[in-house]
Amino acid sequence: MTSEDWSTQRLYRPFIRASLIVAITLGFSTGAAILIMPLLGIERSLTWVTHSQSHGIAQLFGWAGLFVMGFAYHVVPRFFRSSIRYPLPQKLSMWLVIAGLLFRFTGQSLYKMSLADPLVAIGGVLLFAGMLVFGWTLYGVIRLSTSQSGSAEIWMISGVFWSVIAGALHLVITLRMAVDSAPLGYAPWNEALIYTCLFGFIASFIFGVSARAIRGFLLLQPMHERTNRISLLLVQLGLLTLIVGRFANLDQGVASTALILASSGAGMFVYALRVLEPSSGPIRRFAVGYARYGWLVRTAYGWLVVGCVMLILTALDNSGMTDLIPVEVSLPIMHVFTLGFVTTLIFGAASRFIPIFEGTDIRHPRLMDVAYVFITISVVLRVGFGFTVSEIGEHALGASGGIGFIGIILFAIVVFQAMTQSARDAYAARAAAFGQVKFEATKTPRSTELNLM
Ligand code: HEM
Repeated sequence: MTSEDWSTQRLYRPFIRASLIVAITLGFSTGAAILIMPLLGIERSLTWVTHSQSHGIAQLFGWAGLFVMGFAYHVVPRFFRSSIRYPLPQKLSMWLVIAGLLFRFTGQSLYKMSLADPLVAIGGVLLFAGMLVFGWTLYGVIRLSTSQSGSAEIWMISGVFWSVIAGALHLVITLRMAVDSAPLGYAPWNEALIYTCLFGFIASFIFGVSARAIRGFLLLQPMHERTNRISLLLVQLGLLTLIVGRFANLDQGVASTALILASSGAGMFVYALRVLEPSSGPIRRFAVGYARYGWLVRTAYGWLVVGCVMLILTALDNSGMTDLIPVEVSLPIMHVFTLGFVTTLIFGAASRFIPIFEGTDIRHPRLMDVAYVFITISVVLRVGFGFTVSEIGEHALGASGGIGFIGIILFAIVVFQAMTQSARDAYAARAAAFGQVKFEATKTPRSTELNLM
């Protein structure tokens, strides 16, 4: 075991790089291509449906998953005041997940060939192994800790649990695809996997980080603790019900109830966190990271509320109780969660935390502004035109894909740049200047206010 000096390691770096590369090469690019295809007169054949599924998996486990894993390796031992084994589990889990995604993506793309079945199955096994190593390593951290029941810690534990379950569901789905020689994952199981990944794995970690670090950075009002715990309980209940409902082939009403429980839980977390309320006081600190990260975080949570309301209404429709939401033509609700909430939140958290972890400056905040605006426009178009088929709608969806793709590229440039020596030098120079001015200010108490933004 190597646990000494774990705190000096930057274990998240390769994960963040890998997450961005997967997002650009497999995730956002494929999604944009699927939406742009009809504009070029290319018919959406089965090949593109298989790519939709591979895109979903690459985005959930690759873009969001690898990012969350990297952050989790960095923050979980700190939150739990524990230590972590490194670097073998980190390297192993990252490469297993990447290899798993590559096998799954390639296998599903080559679905017409006999080679596809083993490739998809190997993808499932490798991805599960990666999630298992990740979960086991963090379980080791949590087990040694004496503080396991705080408002952030409970979400982290939930995230660890569901990350492994998500890997296991993906394994079962891919094995079934391989055995049946099926080009697509079985839809009801696939739905259970997507929401387990979204609410259980990714959102749990996001909520954990929000309950501790984001709350502190944004100086939010004290959290509603009881609502936080009810929210956790509802998410767990919802996901368990969904998995049982889908895998035991129960009535649609069970899945609808499950989604209502899970989305009510996620929505309640926003209320518990009080992130959409004003801060408890003015934030006066030495500025590190992207200045408008708070806007990103609040926009992300705004999207989460919108997504939860839409998902509840859709679930009521699906159970036959109401008829409120028009039929979707392009999964807009899914993308309110994944693009609007998860992606915007990652943009916000990363633009603040990476410069802090690295001791660097964001050199081109304007690029970050544009990335933020582009992702927001992409989601708005997706929601605005995702419910009806029309010529203008097809163009808007195509534009949404292209704009989102450019948004992720700009964000990647900002992040890669924030992990360079020149960004560290810029930060050091600014911090030194700040220290100098502060020093002068202590000598002459009535000096003018500091502004080194
Ligand atoms: C600009 C960015 C994106 C574009 C253009 C895009 C596009 C698409 C398209 C075209 C589909 C097929 C269904 C449909 O027609 O809507 C799809 C499905 C999906 N996408 Fe995205 N997407 C984007 C971002 C994301 C992100 C960031 C995530 C997750 C973090 C994500 C997760 C999913 C999932 C889970 C599915 C469902 C796959 C399935 O049916 O199994 N997408 N996306």
